[in-house]
Parts: sequence; C-alpha cells; structure tokens
Amino acid sequence: MKVVLLGAPNTGKGTYASRYLKDIYKIPHISTGDLFRANIRNNTDLGVEAKAYIDAGKLVPDAITTSMLRQRLKEDDCRDGFFLDGFPRTVAQAEALEGIASIDVALNFIADEETLIRRATGRRTCRGCGAIYHLTNIIPKVEGVCDKCGGEVYQRDDDKMEVFKKRLKIYNDETRPVIEFYRKKGLLAEIDANLDVNHPNFHVIDDCKKVLDKLRGK
Ligand code: AP5
Ligand code: MG
Repeated sequence: MKVVLLGAPNTGKGTYASRYLKDIYKIPHISTGDLFRANIRNNTDLGVEAKAYIDAGKLVPDAITTSMLRQRLKEDDCRDGFFLDGFPRTVAQAEALEGIASIDVALNFIADEETLIRRATGRRTCRGCGAIYHLTNIIPKVEGVCDKCGGEVYQRDDDKMEVFKKRLKIYNDETRPVIEFYRKKGLLAEIDANLDVNHPNFHVIDDCKKVLDKLRGK
C-alpha cells in the first residue's frame, strides 16, 4: 500500500504515521524532512546544501529532494509500500513521483490555522531519533529527554514563529495545488485533523483506517 500524506506544516502527518499508522500497517514512514535532518546531523554534502533552505523555511529544490527520495524508495523495506510524509510538496514533485511509484491514496489532513500555530510553537523533536513531542499534548516522561532513545529533545529552528509563518505561505502557494493533482486522479481522501490525540473523541486514526482498510480489501 503506497500512501501519500498531505497537509499543512504541523497538521500532524509525522505524528500519525510514526506513532500509529506504520505499526498498524507494518510499512515504513518515509519523511523527507527526517531524511534531510539526518543528512544535516551527519554533515553530508546533501545535508550542508539542504540546511540553508530548511532553516529559512524554504523548500529544498525539487531535483535534490526527488533524487534523495528515489534512492530511499529503492530500499528493501519499501517493497510492500510506505507512508510518504512531506513529499510531494510541489506539482513537479508529484509528477516525478508518478515515474517512481504508483500511489494508491493521498490522505489530506486538514486543521485550522489556530491549531497549526499551537502545534508549531509547542512541538519538540528528538535530536537523536526524530521522535515528535509537544509541550502540552505529547510530553516526554522526563523533561527534555526522549522516551525512545534518551536523546535531547529540542525545538526545531523552523518551528520558530517567523519561520513557521513563511512555511505556511509556501505551503499555500506551492503545495496546495498538489491536493488538486490527487483529487483529479480520484485518489484523494480528506481527514479532519483538528482534535488533539488526548481528546476523548479523537478520531483521526480511525478515519485513516476506514480509508486504508478498504484499500487493503478488509
Ligand atoms: P518537514 O519536516 O516535512 O516539515 P513539514 O511538512 O512542514 O511538516 P511538519 O513536520 O512541520 O508537520 P507535521 O504535519 O509532520 O506535524 P507533526 O506531526 O510534527 O520538512 C521540513 C523542511 O524540509 C521543509 O520546510 C523543507 O525545507 C524541507 N523539505 C522537506 N520535504 C521537502 C520536499 N518534498 N521538497 C522540498 N523541501 C522539502 O506535529 C506537529 C506538532 O503538533 C507536534 O508537536 C505534535 O506532537 C503535535 N500534534 C500534531 N498532531 C497532534 C494531535 N492530533 N494531537 C496533539 N498533538 C498533535
Ligand atoms: Mg513532519
């Protein structure tokens, strides 16, 4: 099952894929943001090139991003499918993806701007394994320490308010047309992602399962 996750920055794509969906469906969560951050951590040429764009809240050029993703999707663990988070981010990337993999569905997570801002300012990320936390919604057991790997939990530079606003504008200008790209192909499913995970009526994962289980023929 090859699934694209769409949605504005901080709708929760990484949270839903990494905490729930990848374990339920036993396919990997591939996040281009995480791939870039791993390259930056390891000081690779790709990481050095990508860092300036990411810290400024800009998109990394399509050619660099697409070539990195193409390599990743060739790895063995992607044989039975994947959750693709953060790609495609432009129509050119969506068109390039057509030549790499045949996508079964695009889940588009939708949340109000107020929710996105609250999630952006509160997000904390593990420097070691990339696990995602939130200051009030998803709190590590020990402050500043990752539950999974013991790494340092920090605030991403691109979660600072002025950079986040820039990312949101780029999302509206460049990434929104990708929604229409998948709608026209009849592959789009929309998911309301406003409720927090600890809300008693949290339904985001159940809504994803309704779409994905049908695809798997359950
Ligand atoms: P990337 O890391 O992909 O950032 P993003 O897409 O902007 O997405 P985010 O990670 O901000 O949001 P998310 O939806 O995953 O939210 P999360 O689950 O963390 O990309 C970073 C940069 O890399 C880009 O700006 C760009 O420069 C570059 N890049 C990457 N891909 C590229 C591409 N294809 N082309 C070009 N450049 C590219 O949740 C946010 C917070 O809210 C967390 O704290 C979480 O705990 C909390 N939260 C979320 N949902 C809930 C909920 N339901 N309840 C409670 N808390 C919640
Ligand atoms: Mg993410």
